[in-house]
Amino acid sequence: MKLLVLGATGQTGQFLVRQALGQGHVVKAVVRTPSKLTIQHDNLKVVEANIFSADSLAEHFDEQDAVMSCLGFPVSIFSAVTGYTESVKAVVAAMRKAKVNRVIAMTSWYTKPETAHNSSWMVRWFLIPMIRNILNNMQEMENYLNKECEDLNWTVIRPPELQNAPETDKELLTHEGYFVPDTDGIPITNSVTRGDVARFMLSLLNVDLWNKKAVAMVTK
Ligand SMILES: NC(=O)c1ccc[n+]([C@@H]2O[C@H](COP(=O)([O-])OP(=O)(O)OC[C@H]3O[C@@H](n4cnc5c(N)ncnc54)[C@H](OP(=O)(O)O)[C@@H]3O)[C@@H](O)[C@H]2O)c1
Repeated sequence: MKLLVLGATGQTGQFLVRQALGQGHVVKAVVRTPSKLTIQHDNLKVVEANIFSADSLAEHFDEQDAVMSCLGFPVSIFSAVTGYTESVKAVVAAMRKAKVNRVIAMTSWYTKPETAHNSSWMVRWFLIPMIRNILNNMQEMENYLNKECEDLNWTVIRPPELQNAPETDKELLTHEGYFVPDTDGIPITNSVTRGDVARFMLSLLNVDLWNKKAVAMVTK
């Protein structure tokens, strides 16, 4: 397939690009600093564009089969995070212009505040408050896709804490919710490798199961 990857210079994005190329996909990485992406491959094209501008993005979207986003934005204590919603609006406009229908994007476990009540003390009282502004904007992006993108085939991937490690052969566990629970409703584990997130994102290209849905994932 022809895959357009956003956030390809990031930690998850690089795993995604490598795995996609390894699976025989043709990848176009749309980045702000092309020199940051050091992967070289005959099936990889790196182009520069502004992720907040539909016009800047649209020229690169023609004939792509899917858009995959590993974009991430830094936490901001004194102001709201807006990168997720600002970029997704530009991406969706560019997709509509170029008639690209499929988008797979990352957010996180616990984008809805009250869903973390069964998580560990550390997660509830330390981690989540620290990244609350990021989670809020991720949730706004999820709502935008859900309410205003009925014409598109979108999937939101919600992973827990990310470890910077390659894909494993562990079983992927999924749940249509804000985290993956065990039989008692407790989060099954707290982290996943970035390589396994990339593996899951790419696996969705072949199945319709999570179309127009947000899915929490982790490995067993
Ligand atoms: N850390 C965790 O434990 C965790 C847990 C769950 C979910 N997540 C979420 O998962 C996603 C991926 O995480 P990650 O750690 O792999 O991300 P990351 O390494 O921080 O990479 C972020 C990517 O977004 C790009 N980006 C940011 N601002 C941009 C802008 N203005 N224009 C163009 N590109 C921009 C970066 O480009 P540059 O290289 O040019 O900066 C980079 O490619 C993020 O949304 C993150 O919040 C993280």
